[in-house]
Amino acid sequence: MSQYVVLIGPPGGGKGTQAKRVSEAIGYPHISSGDLFRKNLRAETDLGKLAQGYLDRGELVPDDVTIAMVRDRLSEADCEAGAILDGFPRTTPQADALEKIAADLSAAVDPVILIEVPDGTLVERLSGRWMSKSGRVYHTIYNPPQVPGKDDEDGSDLYQREDDKPETVRNRIKVYEEQTAPLIAYYQQRKVLRPVDGDQGLDEVTHSILTVLEDES
Ligand code: AP5
Repeated sequence: MSQYVVLIGPPGGGKGTQAKRVSEAIGYPHISSGDLFRKNLRAETDLGKLAQGYLDRGELVPDDVTIAMVRDRLSEADCEAGAILDGFPRTTPQADALEKIAADLSAAVDPVILIEVPDGTLVERLSGRWMSKSGRVYHTIYNPPQVPGKDDEDGSDLYQREDDKPETVRNRIKVYEEQTAPLIAYYQQRKVLRPVDGDQGLDEVTHSILTVLEDES
């Protein structure tokens, strides 16, 4: 039986940052639906062209498209033992689809880690965020690169995401509250929800998540 560890939480809550660290610690691949969309956008694929408007507006890409993309990724060989899902599921139909994918691929969706961060912190986190093309995440204050504006690993230029403009961030938070927050009750009912305080330092949040994973094993 393989294990799907799900990270949910608001935009800027630290899902991507923590998923990468946890992936390095436990060896499962980090699968970010947002990163998959952004890769398709850069490669100008049909999927990227379809997703572009939704990402620019801070809205969710339609469920059928998103589910097919994640199903394909989870079917790859490196996910045989498990995967860390960041940004998926984000709606109840996506959560239902993940249960079905897990049943088909002999996996369990457990635990679902909710990274809790107060709203006031989110805009500050996102306005200071810088990304590398390969998906590494920095923050001008909380997680600065060694050389300003350059990726620590390959020295490439960092960039700021188009959807981190304050007006788009506000819409993403609204979309999270309307469409994704209901998953908290969904996973509480299934007894797999594990809340973690995301309003601590990066290392403390990683430690809290790894403690949850150790307690589960
Ligand atoms: P996605 O890329 O998933 O964006 P998001 O959920 O809005 O989350 P973010 O990536 O913005 O934040 P994060 O929680 O990963 O935080 P991070 O670690 O970067 O989705 C983008 C778009 O794609 C969506 O709007 C939608 O259009 C589409 N999409 C994606 N998935 C979809 C789906 N399933 N269905 C439909 N559409 C979908 O941290 C943020 C900043 O804070 C960083 O600078 C970081 O360094 C800093 N930071 C992190 N933790 C801490 C800490 N503890 N202390 C201080 N600073 C910290």
